[in-house]
Amino acid sequence: MPEVRVKGRDGTEQVLDAAEGTQLMETLRDSGLGVDGTCGGACSCGTCHVYVSAEWSARLPAKSEDEAMMLEALAEYVPLREGSRLSCQIRLEREVSGIVVEVAPAVE
Ligand code: FES
Repeated sequence: MPEVRVKGRDGTEQVLDAAEGTQLMETLRDSGLGVDGTCGGACSCGTCHVYVSAEWSARLPAKSEDEAMMLEALAEYVPLREGSRLSCQIRLEREVSGIVVEVAPAVE
């Protein structure tokens, strides 16, 4: 079962167990961390934005064009970082167990 190390918007850190093969967004959303996942994981709302740690960022598959475009659109509302990703585009397989992320500020 993949493990997710997450820092919430209030700075609280926790370790979550996730179901293998699911989207990271689903675990964050279902854990009451304020990740809405409004579009259901279709890469079109930006409410699942997270900052992936530098170490893990380098280990994830590259962003798709759609994800990169959505993040670019988000930059108008929230700060982007090197590790900015849409958590609906991160699939929780065994290889990503232990991934470290921080929930990005909500889009107002
Ligand atoms: S859930 Fe909408 S972009 Fe990720």
